[in-house]
Amino acid sequence: MKTANTVNEVRSIVREWKKQGLSVGLVPTMGFLHEGHASLIKRAHEENDRVVVSDFVNPTQFGPNEDLESYPRDFERDCRLSEEMGADLVFHPEPSEMYHDPHTYVTIDTLSETLCGVTRPIHFRGVCTVVSKLFNIVTPDRAYFGQKDAQQLAIIRKMVLDMNYGIEIVGCPIIREEDGLAKSSRNTYLSEEERKAALCLSRAVKKGQEVISAGCSSESVLSAMKKIIEAEPLAKIDYVSVVDALDMQPVDKVEKDVLVAMAVYIGKTRLIDNFSFEVA
Ligand code: PAF
Repeated sequence: MKTANTVNEVRSIVREWKKQGLSVGLVPTMGFLHEGHASLIKRAHEENDRVVVSDFVNPTQFGPNEDLESYPRDFERDCRLSEEMGADLVFHPEPSEMYHDPHTYVTIDTLSETLCGVTRPIHFRGVCTVVSKLFNIVTPDRAYFGQKDAQQLAIIRKMVLDMNYGIEIVGCPIIREEDGLAKSSRNTYLSEEERKAALCLSRAVKKGQEVISAGCSSESVLSAMKKIIEAEPLAKIDYVSVVDALDMQPVDKVEKDVLVAMAVYIGKTRLIDNFSFEVA
């Protein structure tokens, strides 16, 4: 497996692959890889001749008071795991390689204005900008994203459609710990007590799935889920919401496919979780 720090290195490696007619899968990450990322790399390896993992903590998607500086990093471990899962190249640029006094950003309206976009107003502009840049640098045939960041996945699908990227976006299932907690690099911030408290998210997901399957309204789904989270003293709800699966706007009645998503602070750590519900 190769590693590259510059855009030019990636371009010349990918150019050689394309000359040989090989297909390329991209797995964009911010590093500190866990089993969720591993599942994306494995899937990309199964579906493409070559796999590029980008490992870049993207400064433009963090707000001023967020965890850019403390975000966990372990490049050597990331390389080992990427190689084990079948990656051919890890792209690990410095921020200065990716951003030279930028004045151009990619923004998406409507879908970025609800859920996480309310508390993190510049987040999706940063995500869309860096993902567009990665698409332009790597020119993949397919790109892989986790369903855990469901709003991000919906936004990237829409961006690709709107901007005619011609890249297949593959959404992959949430990977959970044995006790149900969704895998996240930010789980490392949790103390032992907070780690136990964080289980209220997956318990709320389970409850929400039961209530929605019984044909109840969004309000009933939300109140059943909120009750579980509010019973946990260390938890503070940022949002719990039922939205249209495509445009991310709140819905009262579950008449078409929806996303039920939440963000909850456990102590100072903000965790997200969700499930999708398809109307038959
Ligand atoms: O999901 C992430 O880790 C990031 O938002 C992404 C897609 C790698 C962009 O920085």
